[in-house]
Amino acid sequence: MIQIEGIKKTYEIGKESYEVLKGIDLTINEGEFIAIMGPSGSGKSTLLNLLGGLDQADIGNIQVNHAKLQDMSEKERTLFRRKNIGFVFQNYQLLPNMTVEENIAFPMHADRLPKASIQTTVTNLIQSTKLEGKEKNYPSQLSGGQQQRVSIARALSMEPKLVLADEPTGNLDRKMGTEILRLLSSLHQDQKLTIIMVTHDMYAASFANRIILLKDGMIESDIKQAEGGDQNAMASIITKLNS
Ligand SMILES: Nc1ncnc2c1ncn2[C@@H]1O[C@H](COP(=O)(O)OP(=O)(O)OP(=O)(O)O)[C@@H](O)[C@H]1O
Ligand SMILES: [Mg+2]
Repeated sequence: MIQIEGIKKTYEIGKESYEVLKGIDLTINEGEFIAIMGPSGSGKSTLLNLLGGLDQADIGNIQVNHAKLQDMSEKERTLFRRKNIGFVFQNYQLLPNMTVEENIAFPMHADRLPKASIQTTVTNLIQSTKLEGKEKNYPSQLSGGQQQRVSIARALSMEPKLVLADEPTGNLDRKMGTEILRLLSSLHQDQKLTIIMVTHDMYAASFANRIILLKDGMIESDIKQAEGGDQNAMASIITKLNS
């Protein structure tokens, strides 16, 4: 589903240049649930943004569903993103002046889908993310966990096969975080969604089937774990994270 070859990314700040990604090769298959871990500043968000076409690599190729992101114009990438990829962020990024249902419907309105089909999809998503009764609430009238559920519903509104989540539980306590992880996990299992989640948290990563560890702009390790968690694999990742 995703093929990454020789990705390099450098940021220039004034006269200084800083190489964030130093050559990443990675293949991600349909239906994987991946956690990307690594120290702060190791390039996790940068990699996720490149995968989602939010930013461009300096060197290398990224293919998502056989489409070459680097060959697309800005406009083509925006369209591709809207139709193929759902984004979930640590700080939810909901529109404060829109209600729950309006936030969820937003990408579908942007895509000019028929009103009736938008309403059906919103109703279904409200149900699957357990937001019944909150349809008319504004984001400020929701708990953090509920806001993240709205953002997941919005991410799913265009029926993407791929969801990219950057620290989706980063602002949540353990209980709400667990709810979100269970929701992602059930979407992965029931709808065969491919999920790539950046996280600092070993507990969050334990929900994934594969853990990729970034360090200094390179892949330090890439471990597949059995469903339900593989204690040895986890222990080895914890050791590497702390070294
Ligand atoms: N737009 C930018 N311009 C300049 N430097 C940037 C930019 N975006 C990120 N960086 C730098 O690139 C490095 C990697 O950033 P990135 O956000 O990918 O790290 P991260 O692994 O997601 O960290 P964290 O866990 O703190 O979110 C950091 O040193 C950061 O300062
Ligand atoms: Mg980050």
